[in-house]
Amino acid sequence: MHLAQAESLRPRYEAPLHLRKKELNAMPKETLSLVDNRTQTCYELPFFKDTLRAMDLRQIKTDPQDFGLMTYDPAFMNTASCQSAITFIDGDQGILRYRGYPIEQLAEKCTFLEVAYLILFGELPTAAQLAGWKNEITLHTMLHETTKKFLEGFLYGAHPMGMFISTVAALSTVYPEARKVNDAELRALQIRRLIGKVPTISAYTYRHSLGYPYVYPDNDLSYTENFMNMLWKMAEPKYRPNPVLARALDILFILHADHEQNCSTNVMRAVGSSLADPFVCVAAAAAALSGPLHGGANEEVLKMLDEIGSKDKVPAYVERVKAGQVRLMGFGHRVYKNYDPRAKIIKWAADQVFEVTGRNPKLEIALELERIALQDDYFIKRKLYPNVDFYSGIIYQALGFKPEMFTVLFAIPRTVGWLAQWEEMLLDPEQKIARPRQIYTGYELRDWLPIEKRAAPAA
Ligand code: ACO
Repeated sequence: MHLAQAESLRPRYEAPLHLRKKELNAMPKETLSLVDNRTQTCYELPFFKDTLRAMDLRQIKTDPQDFGLMTYDPAFMNTASCQSAITFIDGDQGILRYRGYPIEQLAEKCTFLEVAYLILFGELPTAAQLAGWKNEITLHTMLHETTKKFLEGFLYGAHPMGMFISTVAALSTVYPEARKVNDAELRALQIRRLIGKVPTISAYTYRHSLGYPYVYPDNDLSYTENFMNMLWKMAEPKYRPNPVLARALDILFILHADHEQNCSTNVMRAVGSSLADPFVCVAAAAAALSGPLHGGANEEVLKMLDEIGSKDKVPAYVERVKAGQVRLMGFGHRVYKNYDPRAKIIKWAADQVFEVTGRNPKLEIALELERIALQDDYFIKRKLYPNVDFYSGIIYQALGFKPEMFTVLFAIPRTVGWLAQWEEMLLDPEQKIARPRQIYTGYELRDWLPIEKRAAPAA
C-alpha cells in the first residue's frame, strides 16, 4: 500500500465518507484515497480487480500499538472470499454461466455428467473424454456393504437429508486415504467416488424410508437413469426409465450443479481449508444446504403450497407475507435481484414432466403466487423474484418424491460444484485456513467469584 499525507484532504468530511461524492481535479488513478479523521492522515489504497484487499486496511492505525483497521461484514454481504473461475452470476441481469457457458445452452444441449466434467476440469469433454469420464464415475457407484448396514440403522422416519449427511461423512471411515488432500491423484479418486456414490446413498435413504429392499446400481444406464433405477425398480428384471422424466431430472441436476459462493459452498471451502478430507467437507456443505433458507427451501415451498390450499387463498397469504408473519418460500435471493434464470428453465421442464405425469394441482397455486407477487410493490421494491426452489419441488412431487427428499435431490448435483470449488481452493496459493475476525462485545476483565457469592442474573 502506498501511504500518503495529504493536507488538502484533511477534515473536510462532516458527513460519513459514503454520503459524500466529490470530484477531484486530478489525473485518474487506480487507487482509492481514504482519510482517517482520527489521525488526519490520508491513505492511498490500490484496487485489486475492482475490490480493496481488506489486509491493506490493517496499516491504518491510530498509533503503532493499534491492531489496525478491519472490515465488518456480517453474513458476507459485500466481501469476496476468493477468486474463482468456475461460475459467473450477474444477479441484476439474471445471468448464470458455468465456465463461461450460459446455463440455458448447457441445460438444452448437455447431459449432467458432461456439465460435471466442464465444471471440474474447465472445458467441455470430447467424445472420448466423456466416455472415459462416464466409465470412471460408473466404476464408483457401489457402496461398501458396511455402509449399507450403517444406513439400515436409521429409523424409518428419519429425515433423508440427515441420513445423507451422516452417510457421506461415514464414507470418510471407509476411505481413510482421503485425508491426504495434498495428493492430486488421491483427490481425483475421491472426487470420482463422491460423484459416483451420492446418487446411491440418496436412493438408499429413499428406499429405507419406505422399507423397500435396496437396488444395486445398473451400469448400463446413464447417471440419472441409474439413479431412477435405484429409486424405483421393483420386481422387474430390468428397469426402463421414462426418457422424458430422465431428461427432466438430468436438466434439474445441471441447473443445481454449482452456484459460486453460496452458503454451502462457503462451508465446503471453509471446512476444506483446514485440510479435512472431502467426505466430511461434503457432509458439512450438505448440512448447510439442508437449512430452510438455502436448499431446504424447496421442501418448505411445498409445505407452504399445502398450507395455502387453493388459488383463491393466495391473496390472503401474500398479505401475511407483507405483514412479516411468514416468508414467501422460494422467493428472493442474496445475489439475484431479477428472475433466477434457473427458475425459468425449471418452468419449461415442468411442462415436459406434466405431459407424462399429469399436471400437479399445486402449480396453479404457485403460478398465482408468482403473478400476484410480481405486481405487488412489496416484492417489486425489494426485488424479490422466484428462485430455483420455487418450482423444483412441484416437479419433484410430480415425479413421485415426498418433500423430505427434495433437498437430497439438490445435494446430488451440487456435490460436483462443492468438489470443484474445494479443488480450486486447495490449489489457490492465496488461500489459508478460513478464520474470520470478530468485534468483541463482551465483558472487560473481571475476577472469578466463589459460587456462594454469585447473584442469579435477573430473569
Ligand atoms: N418473503 C418475504 N420477504 C422477503 C423474502 C421472502 N422470501 N426474502 C426477502 N424478503 C425481504 C426481507 O424481509 C427484507 O425486507 P426488509 O428490507 O423490509 O427488512 C428484504 O426482503 C431483504 O431480505 P434479506 O433477508 O435481508 O435478504 P437476504 O439476501 O439476506 O436473504 C434469502 C436471501 C435468505 C434467500 C431470502 O430471500 C429468503 O429467506 N428467501 C426465502 C427462502 C428461500 O427461498 N431460500 C432459497 C434461496 S435459493 C437457494 O439457496 C438455493
